[in-house]
Amino acid sequence: MIRRMATNPISQFPAGFLWGVSTSAHQIEGAADEREPSVWDAFTAEPGRVKDGSTAAVACDHYHRYAEDVALLADLGVDAYRFSVSWPRVNSPGGLDFYDRLVDELCAAGVRPVPTLFHWDLPLALDWLDRDTAARFAEYAARVAERLGDRVTKWITLNEPAEHTLLGHALGAHAPGRQLLFDALPAAHHQLLAHGLAVRALRAAGVTDIGIANSHGPTWPASQEPADLEAAAFYDLLLNRLFSDPLLLGRYPEGIGELMPKGSAGIESDLKVIAEPIDWYGINYYAPTKVGAPQGAEIEFGGLTLPAELPFSVREIEGHPVTDFGWPVVPQALTELLTGFRERFGDRLPPIVITENGCSYEGIDDQERIAYLDGHVRALHRAVEAGVDVRGYFVWSLLDNFEWAEGYERRFGLVHVDYDTLERTPKASYGWLRDALRARR
Ligand code: NOJ
Repeated sequence: MIRRMATNPISQFPAGFLWGVSTSAHQIEGAADEREPSVWDAFTAEPGRVKDGSTAAVACDHYHRYAEDVALLADLGVDAYRFSVSWPRVNSPGGLDFYDRLVDELCAAGVRPVPTLFHWDLPLALDWLDRDTAARFAEYAARVAERLGDRVTKWITLNEPAEHTLLGHALGAHAPGRQLLFDALPAAHHQLLAHGLAVRALRAAGVTDIGIANSHGPTWPASQEPADLEAAAFYDLLLNRLFSDPLLLGRYPEGIGELMPKGSAGIESDLKVIAEPIDWYGINYYAPTKVGAPQGAEIEFGGLTLPAELPFSVREIEGHPVTDFGWPVVPQALTELLTGFRERFGDRLPPIVITENGCSYEGIDDQERIAYLDGHVRALHRAVEAGVDVRGYFVWSLLDNFEWAEGYERRFGLVHVDYDTLERTPKASYGWLRDALRARR
């Protein structure tokens, strides 16, 4: 029997499920001359770092056009908006006033503000290799909470410490541009410690609903050969479990703890801070990764150069469509990821929120993006039916924006941005999401 597909996958979810869209400060705000510099300003100023040679000095000029963007959110009909607070802006005169205005505008439009406190734009004077940066982060988190906590009821500490460590500190493809390989691990530990200290600081400031946004995806071994299985398990450990296990189980996966810096009171006491209970666990999901044994040579993959000395190699996933970024479109891997999390962490897993999911495609009539989102929302629902407690889903992204080392060539937005005129034009996918949200039961 052919099962007829519901025309609107969103209407299958219960009332109260949080539908939203995400952005980040450095990628959309612009107004770089109205704040302190961040590590990303320094990085993009170096020739050759960003593919199209662009910077985020103006980006979408959201800093000056936020009211127009909030109107787009209101018309879209989302429940919530995930944005990030720029630490360098908060350090600058008038910086917190901007987020105050943005939060007021969102509340007036009936859209729930969900700020992320760190989305990669570290103040230039700071460094995640310094343990002290974790303490500085907690002080900054408290300042933001004191100012916005009367209206903001849902908070995110960090965005993707895994990517920030791998791309920024291990491979040098992102700011701050270091190529430390395994010596980058202290940057991961200090971000996790920063998260735990910030959870405590936020709670002390009266905040009650706190999560993190970690990137995760299934790792598929290239074959069942022992060398491929071993390499895939190591990749999974480094990119997934290194960031989930300390938060949810209070320990590093075996073999990693020894590589971590020892705090003055020892790593055990740091892990207690890192595992401070959170209210929900955010997952950014884009695609699975196929991994095999090292091939003894540099690999060009997804715009990255992976050095030959890594103990694994990343392979093409065949048999699936790919986005303009070359990322495979595999919605069922989202179901696999979530049911895998439930199996692995059991009752220690708090409710999950998908804090990012999306794709890059050119064009305003973006039917491929509609297909991607439709497929992933259905895959999410299958995970819910299988017993995974998922409470929300955020599309990356509201607007086309500055896609880090890729510059402006990758377009993830539901709304097109003309970077010459800064004009916003809703795409077909925006209309699809708006109609699906309006048709909710
Ligand atoms: C994850 C990051 O959090 C976000 O900044 C980025 O734009 C998207 N992935 C797409 O690559």
